[in-house]
Amino acid sequence: MGKIWAISSGSGGVGKSMLAVSLAAGAAKHGKKTILLDASGISRSCDMVLGMESVIVLDMMDVVRDQAAIEAAVYPVGRYEGLGFACASLYDHVPVSEFSSVILALHSLCDVLVIDLPTGQTDLGRGLLRKGDELLLVVRPDQISIRSAERLLMHAGNSDAGVSIVVNRSMKERLKKGVQLSREAVQMILDRPVLAEIPEDASISMSERMGKAAIECDGPAWTSLKALTEALLSGV
Ligand SMILES: Nc1ncnc2c1ncn2[C@@H]1O[C@H](COP(=O)(O)OP(=O)(O)OP(=O)(O)O)[C@@H](O)[C@H]1O
Ligand SMILES: [Mg+2]
Repeated sequence: MGKIWAISSGSGGVGKSMLAVSLAAGAAKHGKKTILLDASGISRSCDMVLGMESVIVLDMMDVVRDQAAIEAAVYPVGRYEGLGFACASLYDHVPVSEFSSVILALHSLCDVLVIDLPTGQTDLGRGLLRKGDELLLVVRPDQISIRSAERLLMHAGNSDAGVSIVVNRSMKERLKKGVQLSREAVQMILDRPVLAEIPEDASISMSERMGKAAIECDGPAWTSLKALTEALLSGV
């Protein structure tokens, strides 16, 4: 049974999918059998980043309805050996009890299951995350993003998984001007460890446009994405 790294946030557009694709590609590059599950429904974008939008036909709803074997709904990602990509349904709500069994089945197929969760959700089924799994909440270092993460943590507070924070799109100039919260302030307000601070980096969108995960970008975000991947892998 592998580990789950679930990515969520209190507010939308903060970089969940960027991080999910990056961590999944990073784990695969380190030789781990990895599955990336895009469970963000209508906001699905990992397929686009990986250049796989037109390839995906089957999703987890087909598996729940017994219309496909789970292996058929996990698509190999050509660019990253050892990485499979699966999607929850774009439109249909999969009943929680049935989704739990799908997650368990995916889990048993890999060393690391990375889940891109919908904004505002920290779980897909009761007890999805267990001891040793990681729930990463992505925030931008501003008041609104932090406040929504605080609200979300009220629900995630009793998760068995380790709950940590990833600060994304941080900018030194904004910190100097006092319009951005520091890493220490975020950690203090949310009372959870900040595992990484990823800087604003235009090379991320450039990489994504070429079908490459952000961990392959050639800008300042690369160092923190690589360090975060390695820190998480030390627990696998
Ligand atoms: N550190 C960064 N620097 C620059 N651009 C970034 C950074 N992180 C993410 N982005 C860009 O921000 C945009 C939104 O990121 P992403 O789609 O990952 O957010 P999301 O939280 O998954 O959004 P949604 O809530 O819609 O699912 C993307 O175009 C992505 O390339
Ligand atoms: Mg997303």
